[in-house]
Amino acid sequence: MKRTLLTLAAALTVAAPAMADLALATSKNCMACHAVDKKVVGPSYKDVAAKYAGQKDAADKLASKIIKGGSGVWGPVPMPANAQVNEAEAKKLATWVLAQK
Ligand code: HEC
Repeated sequence: MKRTLLTLAAALTVAAPAMADLALATSKNCMACHAVDKKVVGPSYKDVAAKYAGQKDAADKLASKIIKGGSGVWGPVPMPANAQVNEAEAKKLATWVLAQK
């Protein structure tokens, strides 16, 4: 029992940062249009991560798109500007999206 609890605690410590960013994405309304592993209104975050894998400037580029919105990369539907997100939050969200596999 004690061992199980320790394992659980270790697992939670590893998972916590990722969960915090999911909570941020949820609180910023991103998950109204996106899911991690399936297309909703916008592309799934796994698809986004796969598309930009290996591109060094991807996090900056996506952070700026998250704030300003834009269209034409994934289809005809535009992403509206997300004015509720500041630069630091956008960078954090972009980094988190790019880490989805
Ligand atoms: C109203 C729906 C909607 C909301 C809310 C929304 N998105 Fe999007 N998102 C989209 C659509 C549609 C696209 C595809 C745009 C395109 O094809 O260029 C997209 C694209 C993206 C991309 C990929 C951009 C690219 O150029 O490849 C990322 C990353 C992203 N969204 C993150 C976010 C984050 C983070 C939030 C929350 C702050 C968010 N989105 C909120 C609809 C939305």
